[in-house]
Amino acid sequence: MIFVTIEGVDGAGKSTQAARLVSQLVDEGYDVEFFREPGGAPLSEHIRTILLDSNFEIGPLPELLLFSAARAQLVEECIRPALDEGKVVVCDRFYDSTTAYQGAGRGIADPDWVSSLNVRVAGGLRPDRTWLLSLPPEEALRRRAQRLPTSLFGTVSVPHEQALRTEPDRMEQSGQAFYDRVAKAFDELAAAEPDRIVRLNGTLSEGELAERIWRGTRDLLAQRAGT
Ligand code: TYD
Repeated sequence: MIFVTIEGVDGAGKSTQAARLVSQLVDEGYDVEFFREPGGAPLSEHIRTILLDSNFEIGPLPELLLFSAARAQLVEECIRPALDEGKVVVCDRFYDSTTAYQGAGRGIADPDWVSSLNVRVAGGLRPDRTWLLSLPPEEALRRRAQRLPTSLFGTVSVPHEQALRTEPDRMEQSGQAFYDRVAKAFDELAAAEPDRIVRLNGTLSEGELAERIWRGTRDLLAQRAGT
């Protein structure tokens, strides 16, 4: 039926919003499938483990190809069939993450090359709506620092009561300049495709964001039902 993705830098709150959107859709009686990227399909979850394992050193090109392999399998095995069955599909990240993280973040290649690879990998599937949770760089840094050990963020104070994750994953070990490039690339994508990507202020309250995402998705569903 429709394909909705949620994007943003690490710590922007997209997983929370994806979960809220899915439960709202279920409450409204929609048949919904929810996936995360990288992951979703069994093979793609294996690839996720490799991609996030900080014991591996993975070069920019193999990293791009591993994210792409995970996505190609997920689209073919899960997303396409669900859409063909008339379901609403919600995905926590999709190919905009590859454009932002591997294209801009790693500086892998010229953006057109990454975009055409993305289209190929997704078999031409384009999200009907992408919600981008955007954060100012200093807020993004603060939130990442809260999730990670202080050693990585020496100058940022971390509240004592905050439960820290033991170790950052491989992607999270990329530095501040990397995350700044990623965030900028997401904003540029939203400016380039305003009909698909809706940029939301990620500093709004969780409830406000959930309300906006739900209203927008409901309108899209109503439009589709009317066509
Ligand atoms: P995710 O599980 O969404 O992490 P988080 O909840 O911390 O945002 O994604 C895992 C990591 O993989 C995250 O650092 C973003 C990265 N990623 C890419 O670099 N490229 C991609 O194409 C995707 C889908 C994710």
